[in-house]
Amino acid sequence: MKIQSKRMDVFQPSIFTKLKLMKLDYTKRTNKKTIDFSVGSPNIAPEPSIMKVMQEAVLVPENYKYAINELPEMKSAIHDWYQNRYGVQLEEDEMICLQGSQEALSTLFLALCDQGDIVLVPDPYYPIFSDGPKIANATVEYMPLLEENDYLIDFDSIDPEIARKAKMMIVSYPNNPTCAIAPDSFYEKLIAFAKKYEIIVLHDNAYSELVFDGKIGKSFLSFDGAKDIGIELNSFSKTFGMAGARLGVMVGNKEIIRVYNTLKSNMDYGIFLPVQYAGIEALRHGGKGIKSTCQAYQDRRDLLMEEFKKAGWMIPKSPATMFAWARIPESYKDSLDFTVDLLEKTGIVVTPGQAFGQQGKRYVRLALVQDKEAIIEAGLRLQQADIFKNK
Ligand SMILES: Cc1ncc(COP(=O)(O)O)c(C=O)c1O
Repeated sequence: MKIQSKRMDVFQPSIFTKLKLMKLDYTKRTNKKTIDFSVGSPNIAPEPSIMKVMQEAVLVPENYKYAINELPEMKSAIHDWYQNRYGVQLEEDEMICLQGSQEALSTLFLALCDQGDIVLVPDPYYPIFSDGPKIANATVEYMPLLEENDYLIDFDSIDPEIARKAKMMIVSYPNNPTCAIAPDSFYEKLIAFAKKYEIIVLHDNAYSELVFDGKIGKSFLSFDGAKDIGIELNSFSKTFGMAGARLGVMVGNKEIIRVYNTLKSNMDYGIFLPVQYAGIEALRHGGKGIKSTCQAYQDRRDLLMEEFKKAGWMIPKSPATMFAWARIPESYKDSLDFTVDLLEKTGIVVTPGQAFGQQGKRYVRLALVQDKEAIIEAGLRLQQADIFKNK
């Protein structure tokens, strides 16, 4: 009996599953603890009021029914957040809630793409950017994000023949894994390009609130014409530290949202009501915590740069997100080779850049999820291992 569909042929166990096995093996062999910078799971707790609202709501028996849709209070909280935070006006039919933005990144293409439709995906990419279109049997064409272009998509280098055939384009700044942010002029070019070639834009804005050094993240929808051609995903995971509670939003073009909602209404029955109540509290009063969360990631970034520099590893200053994206020494074959050697010599775990696409081959991503003591300890281990001196 053949169990696996052909569609599954493009999928392998995720890099984090492999890294976990490597970690276990290392600890078993050496009896030493690892310091893990691989998974980007936020470890800064939500504001106490968010947890309190959730706690109270889980004790109400009525809240265990199918939610089916967003609560009206949720829509109005999203409306007010987008208006106050980004200056974007949203109508009722221009927003829906998601079980995290990952939900739409996995299934939106089923609603919008036919077999073989082209989806333009940045490379390096957050893995589901490439896997989502593949689940829908769409064809992925990669757009390289190069360090010399500040990791911005270069619209002039996209083959016009491919652009004409493309159905969708995925764009995401602040960017995971490169940490890049995009200037306003980029969004103006993006919208002009998408209109010229009639391409639907999916803008993933998961890190809009994790922008450092006093800069402020924007919404794609705040640029003229964006709603004509696209939607934006936003997430409660990093902004409010609610990753496990699974809550996100899709906002923007009402026709795209209508089509997606039709598919979604056949697939799920809405978001657990206590999660919705906690989300409303986050949007209404959770803003206090954002500043300190952002500052905490920025402090970790600075400490990581400082401590790793002592060992000869120059980590670039991430302008945003909760990551660092760093080149590997020339002497290594590729980023996996480096990751294995780094673990072996220091017990430090990073994500090899090639897990994010071809363009990541000579980089690794470090998630800023370790506290001060662990970052200092990692720096000391690097100094002792002497991996970077003279490289
Ligand atoms: C760029 C990007 N988009 C989306 C997500 C998923 O967010 P959510 O928890 O809302 O599904 C992540 C999570 O790491 C991410 O890095």
